[in-house]
Amino acid sequence: MLKQFIALSLSLAFCTAGFASVETVKAKLAQQYPNVKINNLQTTEMQGLYSGTLDSQIVYVNEDAQHLFIGSMIRLKDQHNLTKDLAVKENTIDFKALPLNDAVKTVRGNGKRQLAIFSDPNCPYCKTLEGNLAKLNDVTIYTFIYSIKAQSILPSKQVWCSANKEYAWKNLIQNGIKPTAPANCATPIERNLELGKKLGLHGTPAIIFSNGYKVMGAYPAEEIEKIWKNFGL
Ligand SMILES: *[C@@H]1O[C@H](CO)[C@@H](O)[C@H](O)[C@H]1NC(C)=O
Repeated sequence: MLKQFIALSLSLAFCTAGFASVETVKAKLAQQYPNVKINNLQTTEMQGLYSGTLDSQIVYVNEDAQHLFIGSMIRLKDQHNLTKDLAVKENTIDFKALPLNDAVKTVRGNGKRQLAIFSDPNCPYCKTLEGNLAKLNDVTIYTFIYSIKAQSILPSKQVWCSANKEYAWKNLIQNGIKPTAPANCATPIERNLELGKKLGLHGTPAIIFSNGYKVMGAYPAEEIEKIWKNFGL
């Protein structure tokens, strides 16, 4: 009984100490370097070292908050890249919570692998990505038309109001052929802008994998395949 009590109070003391340290490092940073805004500050497996994100990059700071470095923390026992875990977690959103009805759906082959794309019709990298995506097979692509450029709003709504959204979108993004349908239906275009903002998508294109992993940019088809393989998707 006494042993149990001691064990319990020890573990409590430990938890509190760990928490206090994160708070202490945070306080030290805020006080001494208020311009260095590190988010998600947390303990690591390495004593006295804390991880966090700075400009969406994983960084490490020491206990006295006087030094910071960027690099990979590898657990020697199994050669595991702990920094990678943090980077993946930092870049992950809840795929299942995406309102897929607000996206243009494209199915190829058996459609087994899923991707969500946030794309603006007037963004050159989005056009490039569209070409890359065309090389993927056995995939379902949900394209959220994300009109971050003001001149994209009207054609985006017209795409949505077209009899065949998928065809109208492809024509616009790949061939630069403007949709002819009037923008007179209910569209998710404004909702998509809200959604993207909520997800922290400050640019286009964004690619979200079915496990929630998010990357930005015109990824080549081979890179997308590689990510699928890495995550076993
Ligand atoms: C560990 O993962 C990070 C984040 O993905 C990556 O930038 C880094 O190159 C990796 N380090 C090694 C040694 O593989």
